[in-house]
Amino acid sequence: MYLDKLATSLVSAGRSKKFGLGSVNTVIQRASSLVFDSVKDKKIATANRANSELFYGRRGTLTHFSLQEAMVELEGGVGCALYPCGAAAVSNAILSFVVAGDHILMTGGAYEPTQDFCNIILNDMNVTTTYYEPTIGADIRHLVKKNTKLLFLESPSSITMEVPDIPAMVKAARAINPEIIVMIDNTWAAGVLFKALEHDIDISIQAGTKYIVGHSDAMLGTAVSNARCWERLRERSYLMGQMVDADTAYMAARGLRTMGIRLKQHEANSIAVANWLSGRPEVERVNHPALPSCKGHEFYKRDFKGCNGLFSFILKQRLSDAQLEQYLDNFEHFSMAYSWGGYESLILANQPEELNEIRPSGKVDFEGTLVRVHIGLENVDDLVKDLDAGFGRIAE
Ligand SMILES: Cc1ncc(COP(=O)(O)O)c(C=O)c1O
Repeated sequence: MYLDKLATSLVSAGRSKKFGLGSVNTVIQRASSLVFDSVKDKKIATANRANSELFYGRRGTLTHFSLQEAMVELEGGVGCALYPCGAAAVSNAILSFVVAGDHILMTGGAYEPTQDFCNIILNDMNVTTTYYEPTIGADIRHLVKKNTKLLFLESPSSITMEVPDIPAMVKAARAINPEIIVMIDNTWAAGVLFKALEHDIDISIQAGTKYIVGHSDAMLGTAVSNARCWERLRERSYLMGQMVDADTAYMAARGLRTMGIRLKQHEANSIAVANWLSGRPEVERVNHPALPSCKGHEFYKRDFKGCNGLFSFILKQRLSDAQLEQYLDNFEHFSMAYSWGGYESLILANQPEELNEIRPSGKVDFEGTLVRVHIGLENVDDLVKDLDAGFGRIAE
């Protein structure tokens, strides 16, 4: 199993002696000022400031360099830029590559704030966005224009969970414009379950807030880049003041050490719950990439190395407001929260018309209420019991 093979890297990546100074974990080096012993040392640090040489706090300290080294080992590529949250990673990565007059292709299944960033900030900058259906495949070629600078992917889609045929899309887009910059929001794969850079994608972005941190108590964004895009991404993100504090970088590195076993457990738990849901009469469809009922399941099977705890399911009925309250307010083990990727189970629901509002590429194909769950590390029987009681509360 892939995660078993990755286990050693997850434990050891970025943990060389120079970062630990004798301790198991990398030191937390909090610094703005970094002191030079001599004019010569200052010159060396200045010349190598972009290459993990201690220079000034905004360029990072040992704690940051260690995390960056770990991310590059895990995801491939040549460098990793750090950001204060996933949304900052998405917006700054895009801003690093577009100029006024450019056009970008964005998935209609993108995380809502990513869409808002395109609709508001890019629009003000005279950068236009075309949203494509996540299932478009090689037909993306029809949307590539002369001024298309960037293709942005997210897999699976936020909330509705379609898995796109990424290799076909990248190949088709590059056949028209070999220079097109391809980026992915690779948060669901935690950067390791889908090896973006091995699929000819230039930049793999993650909300490290989710599985890297893994305990719902810190926010982080990461962008791992190939050689072609690294210098521009690094320098432009730096100019826009993007970085993260040393304590958060430390917590992220600490999260990596257990991410493999957490992901394995999230995967086992979520597949068990998804299978149980598939057999329920209340459920129209389960959107779990590892199940054949999910759109793009065949691409998941071909391209991904495993799954996690996040998926959605569609109810046969559209719950009324009162039913929704009855349903959501009374779970014992599922909390309501906008995030995911921590050790705990979470639940949210969306009506189809709410989803249509954040689906600029086309309407959803269902009429029932969609429920999104993050399956945590609790005992599966307890979670199933809780969900079963939930169905009892909305029985007609
Ligand atoms: C797919 C995806 N990308 C990006 C983000 C943004 O991450 P952050 O909340 O760290 O800004 C989220 C947050 O939920 C997300 O689900």
